[in-house]
Amino acid sequence: MTPLHHKVDLVISGAQIVSHERIVSACVAIHGERIVAVGEPAAMPPSAHVFDASGLHLLPGAIDSHVHFRDPGYPHKETWSTGSGAAAMGGVTTVFDMPNTNPPTGTLDALALKLKAAEHSYVDFGIHGLLGDDTIDHLEALLDAGVSSFKAFVGNTFGNLPAPSDGALLEGFEKLAPLGIRTVVHAENSSIMARRQAQLIAAGRSDALAHLAARPAVCEIEAISRVSILAQWTGARLHIAHHSAADSLYLIEDAKARGVDITVETCPQYLLLNTDSMLKLGGVLRVNPPVRESRHNEPLWQALKSGVIDMIATDHAPHSIEEKTRPNIWECDCGFPGVETQMPIMLTEVNKGRASLTDYVLWSSVNPAKAWGLYGIKGLIATGAHADIAFVDLKKTGLINQSLFQTKAKISPWHGRAVHGMPVHTMVRGRFVVQNGRLLEETLGWGQNIKDVQTMPQPHPQNTEHYSSAMVKTQ
Ligand code: NCD
Ligand code: ZN
Repeated sequence: MTPLHHKVDLVISGAQIVSHERIVSACVAIHGERIVAVGEPAAMPPSAHVFDASGLHLLPGAIDSHVHFRDPGYPHKETWSTGSGAAAMGGVTTVFDMPNTNPPTGTLDALALKLKAAEHSYVDFGIHGLLGDDTIDHLEALLDAGVSSFKAFVGNTFGNLPAPSDGALLEGFEKLAPLGIRTVVHAENSSIMARRQAQLIAAGRSDALAHLAARPAVCEIEAISRVSILAQWTGARLHIAHHSAADSLYLIEDAKARGVDITVETCPQYLLLNTDSMLKLGGVLRVNPPVRESRHNEPLWQALKSGVIDMIATDHAPHSIEEKTRPNIWECDCGFPGVETQMPIMLTEVNKGRASLTDYVLWSSVNPAKAWGLYGIKGLIATGAHADIAFVDLKKTGLINQSLFQTKAKISPWHGRAVHGMPVHTMVRGRFVVQNGRLLEETLGWGQNIKDVQTMPQPHPQNTEHYSSAMVKTQ
């Protein structure tokens, strides 16, 4: 960087700037945490420093709606510094952390512990609070204290949080609808899965594919159908986590056509892996929902392209090597790390011609920013926005190497995969947190809660007359 005379902090020159609509050659001027100009070199204000990004593409940093940073509760699996360091290395500048920590993020005390742990974040973050039968009475208090959104574990998964009753879900939606707050749902049917799993175990199955047999697509179909009905009735905003099945896409299409405010994420594993990979990888690839037969892969891509699925998240779910490699599939912890590898994996697909770079930005940054009330501040490289930028070298090639991960979880189904295109520098609110593929440790703690910039405009609840008189508390 070259010192000039004082005006704005930094001008980035020579790069291609990518949005969901176009790629343009332009400079970006940054002052403090924000972008203050984008344009021709001649239109740039004088700056203290110039950063030459020739040959690179500047993408709005990825916004990952679904990570598990495990702290409080399971720091041997991950901590905020290792998880958010992994995010930064992967070009991810904002993450949303899930509440299946210990204690689960459903009380003010538990939230305080999480916010304390998150002081060690390299990247900006939102906190999904827990929506369950026991938390219904303090959703508003959790929002006031810093959660951005909620998560309902309708399908059982790591942490074994009980699925909310339908009654509690409906009441939660009734409370959150007028506030415009979106609820993430892990959409699988727990009772179907519990019975299937018990039968498979009784029959002596402990092989890799037994996990899929215990969680057939009908579990996802049933749960999406149920929660989208409750969301429609109340006007609540809904977000479907880790959509895995081709067979449940028609319900999303239908819900969107009915006017339900439903957003949907899928993950690289559902687009690119399947039962063939499960046979090779076994417990390393055990995840909820399971990766399915190869016939599901292509329809999920098509759903992203048509807008039925809105975004890519990672479901970054770190566990130790020991927890992932037990011989019996039922004893392998579900989930695996992903926040660090999503961008190189997806850019590789872009380089193969499977999607355009502008599509990728739509799925990785623009649509999540819109879903969580951040668009305008995040999700774009434009004047006024936070300078959250993934500097990408589309020509760079390499192999995913789990032993070099920042995440504590040094075990990944992507290990050994050839990638073409990767982030080389990452900037969060005007500050480089990664440069030349190296995490800058002095930036630990730079990440902030997005709650302060989040705006969720009030929706128009569809059925206020059905609940307002019964539910609104008079104080
Ligand atoms: C996640 C975890 O480990 O916390 N595991 C998983 O298999 N996806 C929980 C979840 O998101 O379901
Ligand atoms: Zn989940």
